[in-house]
Amino acid sequence: MINSNVVIIGGGAAGLMCAIEAGKRGRSVTLIEHEEKIGKKILISGGGRCNFTNKYSSPDNFISGNPHFCKSALANYTPENFTKMVEDYNISYHEKKLGQLFCDNTSKQIVSMLESECRKYNVNIIANCRINKILLNTRFELESSNEKISTDSLVIASGGISIPKMGASDFGYQVAKQFELNLTEIRPGLVPLILNEKDRNNYSLLSGISIDSIVSCGKIKFRENILFTHKGFSGPAILQISSYWKGGKPVSINLLPEINLFEILLKNHSSKIELTNFLAAYFPKRFAETFCKVNFNPAPLYNYSQKELRNISDIIHNWIIHPSGTEGFEKAEVTIGGVDTNELSSKTMESNKVKGLYFIGEVVDITGWLGGYNFQWAWASGFAAGQYV
Ligand code: FDA
Repeated sequence: MINSNVVIIGGGAAGLMCAIEAGKRGRSVTLIEHEEKIGKKILISGGGRCNFTNKYSSPDNFISGNPHFCKSALANYTPENFTKMVEDYNISYHEKKLGQLFCDNTSKQIVSMLESECRKYNVNIIANCRINKILLNTRFELESSNEKISTDSLVIASGGISIPKMGASDFGYQVAKQFELNLTEIRPGLVPLILNEKDRNNYSLLSGISIDSIVSCGKIKFRENILFTHKGFSGPAILQISSYWKGGKPVSINLLPEINLFEILLKNHSSKIELTNFLAAYFPKRFAETFCKVNFNPAPLYNYSQKELRNISDIIHNWIIHPSGTEGFEKAEVTIGGVDTNELSSKTMESNKVKGLYFIGEVVDITGWLGGYNFQWAWASGFAAGQYV
């Protein structure tokens, strides 16, 4: 029988941070992981280099039913706090772009750092362990595939359900249901979009081409690259907008955000140059050819009327696509939605209804943008709970 002040279920970013902080306070901490090793998502993150935070992280970079909920935790554990730990461990890092901090070498260094901190504060990590039942009497009594476990503070840090082959499970949602906590609707986020069949056939030859664009859905817009895939679109701008996209909504793409194409077309109106060749000065040739073939009747510029030039410019600056769906949880970097923030204290992450029960990290209805924000939420919410468990 294990008897511990704190039991954390899930050895990912949030669970490890919470374990370290509770350990620092002298609490006895047991961390349960059902996979054979901890931190699997950290290892694969950022293409193996872990984009561990974002220098400019602010509440505006998060999606939630309650946009205010994340404020307290983010203010109490900042990107500088995590970066300081990274520096203390002599892990070299760089800013790739837009405040995104990545390891110079490998994400293994982040997992090793968190493991070392856990060792320093005597956190008992048990991998390959399944929790079969949770009972609440005067304490939480857990039946596991190993020993029975008893604790006063139970922290659920089991993440969302994206990338099931990395150990993701719906365990956290099941625990919330067991204790009658509300869940918001979940859906895949930071995920490639699939085009309808007609567009997929039209553009599938463009797979691999990437174009700097402004992508918008409703009032939300992102400027970064889009990437054509066999099924539709990916690339950072598309992944970002996918978190705001819901079935049926159109997505607008400005393929030439830097220039006013209509003005340039007008200046060249008397030119004999063919539209495709003209556009090939601004885009990869393969894209110019396919896009012109699908959308326009390629001809020399002098052949078009002003109205037609306006139409060409409008389509390129405001290309409307109608995605038929996303590539789903198999390919999503995050799960949007989860444990309703109205059920939790924003200061401690403890359930308002069930004393001693905490939810942290991605299992909560807080989702960050692409670019290190999701880890920042995991660290910050883990830190918050770690001060109270
Ligand atoms: P996380 O999923 O990390 O950890 C949950 C842990 O609980 C896992 O170890 C899991 O095995 C375990 N678990 C699940 N069910 C259990 C059960 N029943 N019993 C015991 N254990 C259980 N973010 C970012 O900021 N920068 C980046 O570079 C990236 N890159 C990235 C790449 C890819 C491919 C993906 C899929 C995701 C990212 N992310 C990211 C997102 C980021 O990885 C994610 O938001 C955090 O890992 C969430 O941390 P959590 O600790 O909440 O869950």
